[in-house]
Amino acid sequence: MDKRENFGGMAAVIMALAGSAIGLGNIWRFPYVVGQNGGAAFVFVYIIATIFLSLPIFFAESVIGRRSGANCRGALARLAPGTKWHLFGLLCVITPMLIVSYYSVVGGWSLDYLFKAATLSFTGGAGAGGGFGSFVSSVWEPLLAHTVFLLVCIGIIFGGVRKGIGKVSKIGMPILFLLIVVIVVYSLSLRGAGKGAAYLLQPDFSKLTAKTVLDAIGQSFYSLSLGMGIIITYSSYVKKSENLLVTGFGTATADLLFAMLAGMAIMPAVFAAGIAPGSGPGLIFDTLPFIFSSMGQQMPALTAIASVLFFLTVLFAAVTSAVSLLEVGVAYLTEEFKMSRIKAGILAFIFAWTLGALCSLSFGPLSGVQLFGLGIFDLLDRFCSNVLLIAGGLLCVVFVGWKMKRSDVYDEFTNSGTKRLNARLFGFIYFVIRYLAPVAVLLVFLSSVL
Ligand code: PFF
Repeated sequence: MDKRENFGGMAAVIMALAGSAIGLGNIWRFPYVVGQNGGAAFVFVYIIATIFLSLPIFFAESVIGRRSGANCRGALARLAPGTKWHLFGLLCVITPMLIVSYYSVVGGWSLDYLFKAATLSFTGGAGAGGGFGSFVSSVWEPLLAHTVFLLVCIGIIFGGVRKGIGKVSKIGMPILFLLIVVIVVYSLSLRGAGKGAAYLLQPDFSKLTAKTVLDAIGQSFYSLSLGMGIIITYSSYVKKSENLLVTGFGTATADLLFAMLAGMAIMPAVFAAGIAPGSGPGLIFDTLPFIFSSMGQQMPALTAIASVLFFLTVLFAAVTSAVSLLEVGVAYLTEEFKMSRIKAGILAFIFAWTLGALCSLSFGPLSGVQLFGLGIFDLLDRFCSNVLLIAGGLLCVVFVGWKMKRSDVYDEFTNSGTKRLNARLFGFIYFVIRYLAPVAVLLVFLSSVL
């Protein structure tokens, strides 16, 4: 067997996993979903769901990846030879390839907005805010941005696991945290920002509904990159000597922290400008330029810097996540078809670019192409987030909880008995993987499908 690449030490592993987890899900999706679900009570459920449900599922995926040391399909074929489980592995390859195609369209938007911010297009007021609709429905500008965004991601993939993904994550992640902290400070300094902070931090539990709880679980899955083979693939690059509990806790903590910081960067600004927090997916693209431009009349230089830093943060976060989505397909092609990384990367690019272009055009010339009243972009997003991703998560916990031997799972967590592990902690994680997670995920699945 070829010697498999790995990320290097623990820090690199956590940075790469956090690079995948922290993405548009934290900075674009989280704030608007919080806004749609009434604020802090949703945030509270989201945190509980991440710790008690998503993290054990994350561990389950890590066990599959590290134990097999293979791409998703190969992993399942190796761990359950002679069964149909490899088809689940194949699903885990298909889902992220579908997702990355529209994810990179949104990544392209952030690149375009960074350009607009840097060329001061927002600070004059004209065309800022409200311009989002006309931008996404145009043909060439979003397409060009989608192309450049994907090319950057593929460039990192070409660099390899350690020198490409590992290195970019190790440098990019600390910068990302620094950037978001600077924006939080700026945002909290705006007049009227306190209301936004309170909206995120002071729960009103009377606002909790079944939908809020299910949305919070869904958001937590999306944010930790669960159910689509990413954690399986990345964990297959984790050395046998690393502790999976530490990598899991480290990644979930970084992801939660970043989501809260992103909320603290966006909500105070939204409230300071008197904009409705529940305005939906356009929240950061439509309202932030407007907020920045209206504030800018008092302090234009500071506002310009804040908007550049903001869209730079969105872009950085999106790139490392898109790379992880692409890596699932690239690992599959290189290992199962003995392709070179370059050839696999080019094929992944062609697929994601073509489908992504259709998604991008679905806001403009292809807006008439609809199924169930949804355009191509929305249809793909709903199908992937609400069906494929959750089905993937479900199959994963069923596999680890019911198909794998308990002793093998224990063996992975303790690095073949060389690391100590509290029996109660393992018992709890195993219980969640075997009983609680399948039931909870099934409920989310049924509610989203029905
Ligand atoms: N976890 C990343 C994010 O929050 O953006 C990556 C990701 C996960 C993207 C799930 C898309 C997705 F459906």
